[in-house]
Amino acid sequence: MNSAILLVDVGSASRNSWKLFLQSHDYDVFTAEDGESALRECLELQPDLILLHDTLPDADGFELCHRMKGNPLNQQIPIVLIKPSSDPADLARARKAGAAEFWGTSTSLGDALSRVESLLRLRGYIDEQARSVVLSLARSIEAKSPLMNGHSDRIVKYALQLGSGMDLPEEDLHELRIACLLHDIGKVSVPDEILLKPGPLNAEETAIIRQHPVIGETICAPLRSMRRILPVIRHHHERMDGSGYPDGLRGNEIPLMARILQIADIYDALITDRPYREALSSEHALETLSHEASNGWLDAPLVWKFSRICREGDCFPVRGRTMLASYYA
Ligand SMILES: [Fe+2]
Repeated sequence: MNSAILLVDVGSASRNSWKLFLQSHDYDVFTAEDGESALRECLELQPDLILLHDTLPDADGFELCHRMKGNPLNQQIPIVLIKPSSDPADLARARKAGAAEFWGTSTSLGDALSRVESLLRLRGYIDEQARSVVLSLARSIEAKSPLMNGHSDRIVKYALQLGSGMDLPEEDLHELRIACLLHDIGKVSVPDEILLKPGPLNAEETAIIRQHPVIGETICAPLRSMRRILPVIRHHHERMDGSGYPDGLRGNEIPLMARILQIADIYDALITDRPYREALSSEHALETLSHEASNGWLDAPLVWKFSRICREGDCFPVRGRTMLASYYA
């Protein structure tokens, strides 16, 4: 995947040469022509780097940088403020605005390229570190209760078997694995007395736990390496008939990886013990999945495919002890 650079610069006569030069080095280059479009593009594109020339007709570059960095979703995006200036106060203003660098002297395209490359390397390193932290955080949610132990590892196994059966490319299988590990990370915001409650949840508790897909998406959104799995995290509790949450998506509006993940997720929920019932047999769990598909909740062809894989012996249940009421909310 090419790195994406947002070029915010309408006044510079060299804008096109910057754009063509960066494109010739395999960057995806986007441009914004005023402050408002820069803010919008920044949020929607989540570029890997922003080169912000202080030549906008409607906005002060320092103020614009400050506004961009003020949004938590943009905080990991390095912004380079570019303004020919020998005034040390400008450097201080740029730092205060949250810019990663301030280029106050004219910069050749070659110099700019090496600085861009080093900023992107640094961003990649920070992203990797943050990703490790997020994965550890997801593990810590499972570790809160021995009853939940091993759930995400099991659904990785089931989801990958189904994904491989669907002939998903390697890259998608990799993303699916990460999504399985992180899909419930938003539960970090759920109080333990709800998350670990062994009995049924009341309406207020259910509403709280149903926020976890959106919170999970928000936690992972600043990380570049998580971009492709954000829709999977957000939509893993949608239902085919539109009765799921958070957005009530229907049918193929629900990302394929989310539909695969939810089958693996529910299957594991069914074949593991709960405080109030024994684990179901694999066959009984598959019948329940079929029933949920016929109710219009799960993707029926995917459930059939998954059932075939399990019955052919490729998907042995790993019996464990789990399933708190909050898990199935
Ligand atoms: Fe969930």
